[in-house]
Amino acid sequence: MSDDAKDTRPILVTGGAGFIGSNIADRLAGEGHDVIVYDALSREGVKTNLDWLRARHGAKIIEVVADVRDAGEIGRAAREAKAVFHLAAQVAVTTSLDDPLEDFSINVEGTLNVLEALRSLPSPTPVLFASTNKVYGDLADVALERGEHGYSPVDPDLARSGVGENRPLEFHTPYGCSKGAADQYVLDYARSFGLRSAVLRMSCIYGQRQMGTEDQGWVAHFLLRALAGQPITLFGDGHQVRDILEVADAVSAYVAAWKRIDHIAGRAFNLGGGPTNAVSLRTLVEHIEALVGQDVELRFADWRAGDQRYFVANTQAADAALELGPKRPWRDGVARLAEWFRDDRALRAASPSRPLAAAAR
Ligand SMILES: NC(=O)c1ccc[n+]([C@@H]2O[C@H](COP(=O)([O-])OP(=O)(O)OC[C@H]3O[C@@H](n4cnc5c(N)ncnc54)[C@H](O)[C@@H]3O)[C@@H](O)[C@H]2O)c1
Repeated sequence: MSDDAKDTRPILVTGGAGFIGSNIADRLAGEGHDVIVYDALSREGVKTNLDWLRARHGAKIIEVVADVRDAGEIGRAAREAKAVFHLAAQVAVTTSLDDPLEDFSINVEGTLNVLEALRSLPSPTPVLFASTNKVYGDLADVALERGEHGYSPVDPDLARSGVGENRPLEFHTPYGCSKGAADQYVLDYARSFGLRSAVLRMSCIYGQRQMGTEDQGWVAHFLLRALAGQPITLFGDGHQVRDILEVADAVSAYVAAWKRIDHIAGRAFNLGGGPTNAVSLRTLVEHIEALVGQDVELRFADWRAGDQRYFVANTQAADAALELGPKRPWRDGVARLAEWFRDDRALRAASPSRPLAAAAR
């Protein structure tokens, strides 16, 4: 039995009712760990993820409905845990532009509350932080060309490998600033205080349990609109390219980072689908049309603040350090998500009180 398995203390997942958090909590509880799901349930619909976790894992899920800005409450949960996965956040660029102070307080103050609780412990608890590729800014200086499959860098090395961790940090939008600041605090607490902390800078993650909206979670949002026969609005020209990663692969990376924390503490890794899972918004819509068997009406609106025309992560550092396996190809992953939404709708039709995309399975 490994040391992790012998240690019966729970694992804390902040934002554990959210999309990625609930998938992490599910994996950890499935491996036999007790999991504190700490979440303010402020994202619409996520309560159903919590109900799903409890239905699957019973008493292994310890529910704490609270805010990460409550230093006392988050401190108690963090001090009792054998590891912390910190995902609770204000997650949308749009909302951060409406209310930068709220965004700052959740993303920066909330993260500092977690770090401070761990700093006071005699032996440091591993902590993994969910950061974002937005810490690299809009990459406006990268020369791009537009081909059949969207924008790609003129530089052949960059086009082949994607953006690495050596790219200078440049925080755009209040969300970029707050997540970037938290990312740097997490790294600095390893440097200044010897915390066993590491950062995963994620590209677009998609998959089951995602409450996708126009503001955040666009792969799920596109699918939901297409399945409902509704138009999709593309901000910009739709040729922007992203590397997308299925949530099960993201969860594997988080768990691997925890298990290897003594080798990776103090480091930040890009985590995304990488060059083989790079897709333009328009190409994704075409694939969705094929999956749902009907055309989707596209509408266009202005580019949004901080929007990158191209972002594809170079994932070589994470692949090597975390010994990650092959990633699920995006076409398969999106087809799997479409199937999940369809089943979920079928279940909802049979039980109308059940909210969309949240059925227990
Ligand atoms: N999904 C992606 O593609 C992506 C990409 C880059 C980074 N991230 C980061 O990953 C993390 C998880 O994102 P997600 O897509 O699962 O989003 P999500 O909105 O589904 O999950 C976030 C959870 O945090 C909770 N929360 C919000 N404010 C809180 C607060 N003050 N106190 C306690 N809980 C609070 C919400 O209720 C929600 O359940 C976030 O930190 C996000 O910034 C996500």
